[in-house]
Amino acid sequence: SFEEYKNSYKQSVNDPEGFWSDIASTFQWKKKWDHVLQGDFKQPQVKWFVNGKLNITENCLDRHLEKRSKQTAIIWEPNHPRDQPIHLTYAELHEKVCKYANVLKENGAKKGDRICIYMPMIPEITIAVLACARIGAIHSVVFAGFSAQAIADRINDASCSMVITTDGMYRGPKKLPVKDTIDSALETCHSVKKVLVVQRTAHPIKMEEGRDVWVHEEIEKVTSDCPAEEMDAEDMLFILYTSGSTGKPKGVVHTCGGYMVYAEYSFRNVFQYEDRDVYWCSADVGWITGHTYLIYGPLLSGATTLMFEGVPTYPDAGRFWKVVDKHQVNIFYTAPTAIRSLMASDLSFVRNYKLNSLKVLGTVGEPINEEAWYWYFEHIGKKKCPIVDTWWQTETGGAMISPLANITENKPTFATYPLPGIQPVLLDKNGDEIKENEKEGYLCIKFPWPSMIRTTYGDHERCRKTYFSSYKGYYFTGDGAKRDRDGMYRIIGRIDDVINVSGHRFGTAEIENAIDEHPEIIESAVVGYPHEIKGQGIYAYVICGDHVPEDRGRIREEIIAMVDEQIGKIARPEKIQFVENLPKTRSGKIMRRILRKVAEGNTSNLGDTTTLLEPKVVEDIIQGAVKLESAV
Ligand code: WT7
Repeated sequence: SFEEYKNSYKQSVNDPEGFWSDIASTFQWKKKWDHVLQGDFKQPQVKWFVNGKLNITENCLDRHLEKRSKQTAIIWEPNHPRDQPIHLTYAELHEKVCKYANVLKENGAKKGDRICIYMPMIPEITIAVLACARIGAIHSVVFAGFSAQAIADRINDASCSMVITTDGMYRGPKKLPVKDTIDSALETCHSVKKVLVVQRTAHPIKMEEGRDVWVHEEIEKVTSDCPAEEMDAEDMLFILYTSGSTGKPKGVVHTCGGYMVYAEYSFRNVFQYEDRDVYWCSADVGWITGHTYLIYGPLLSGATTLMFEGVPTYPDAGRFWKVVDKHQVNIFYTAPTAIRSLMASDLSFVRNYKLNSLKVLGTVGEPINEEAWYWYFEHIGKKKCPIVDTWWQTETGGAMISPLANITENKPTFATYPLPGIQPVLLDKNGDEIKENEKEGYLCIKFPWPSMIRTTYGDHERCRKTYFSSYKGYYFTGDGAKRDRDGMYRIIGRIDDVINVSGHRFGTAEIENAIDEHPEIIESAVVGYPHEIKGQGIYAYVICGDHVPEDRGRIREEIIAMVDEQIGKIARPEKIQFVENLPKTRSGKIMRRILRKVAEGNTSNLGDTTTLLEPKVVEDIIQGAVKLESAV
């Protein structure tokens, strides 16, 4: 009940160590911790469950075998509805993870090594992730939509010694290469000694002698006996790259103990998972949501977790709902962008299905607009399923502000209240805490939580600067938020140079760097603008010499190819405007605020432009934007 939530919340603030110690005690530890929490945000240096020893896979798998060995752990729904789904029990998953772990060891992997996983949504990606954790290797999953260049940057940043990948992948009607992309990435990666290839499409690929091996051949050579490596609670579990306001993506580091405790705790509480429920998170394993709420949270809780290989619109816009009925899904967790894109198709795609197994719905990744919220609530949840709008980040490891299904209230477009153990605050421009309600401010977190980011891989100073230096003593989220009369939080969005496209994060500088590689581009500025389906779209202003060129069509295509190559198709700018100049301050800083307004089509109120070096530049850009609109 709400009363219980409030009591639990109070306890978590009054006695955080007692609170987390009780929760952590429900797990299987090889050795208990000496201290629950050490350190603070200053260095920053925070340690949870100090000197505790564990292996997360024993908690995901081994400890469930007594009661759940025959229960389905993973339901896999393939890309094509005509193909057979796969059900893996906890016993089967345990066996497969142990075998994969032995394959990793046989191929030279050991505790502390970094292993890059670049795979589509097939059960083997979960098995690969857990196999790494089993032997204490640090996994770094790279989303299968990233380009060779983006993979190479990530592999090199972490000096990965191994890559686990597939031959190819299916995505809707398309069959796409995967191993070929790895091959070109590896041309510039010298740390990689072995590439393990899982067969999915069985189309011809190149196998490099001595480096590349087929997993299905290696599996034949190993046993299923693989004791779990003993890990310190603060040993790294994984690295996951995410974009920030600078050009270079950063490797967010999560550790074994704290991440485990919070992934399970938050999963159980937010979704109120009950024994035997079928739970489906539609996120890709390549993002943090896939890590925490497709793999670790559900498996730690002994849940049945569904994984879907395909896309929501294949073979038609009813596919999600078909999968819900087919597997009798009880809890469904997706992104606002998916909801908006399905909302745009005919309601008959929904009406074809019963959807009566659903009990709880969830969203994540970006603010959900009111229209999408109500559509989800009425047409999918039939007005009887609560919607958990979960606010969190790659850096937070798990959901921080969210309703708890059927326990705390929903309010459309509000992430509502913090989970017990989480202490959000709103700060004003001076960094002072705003105590009153019905106010807006910068969203910060005031006290450590178990699954918080520990460092950015190889560059602790960057971690300190990005998250812990803007406001002393606080973790800064990069989001703006407002609190209503009842203390409920509504997330407004990023206040830094980060664009959220379909729930995926890109730094404006990252995209600008890619565009600037074009030999004819002198300078570019990228901003986000409101996009009906994607939440935000990418708008690029580019300068080629001192005039707007004639063959803009060609250059536009080349720019897009540049972005595809450096980052991936997911980062393509939707709109490209050729300009002669960019609005700059006297000190040479681009005034993005103005560019954002123009991209939004909101030029009636540009705000203060008195610090501009050349006010006429703005007029030209507005004219150009109007022309661009009418040309589209
Ligand atoms: C950023 C984090 C957390 C997994 C997916 C994205 C935005 C996330 C919500 C929400 C409003 C949200 C924030 C945040 N965001 N969830 N429920 N309501 N905004 O992870 O790539 O690390 O991005 O996504 O702006 O800072 P991410």
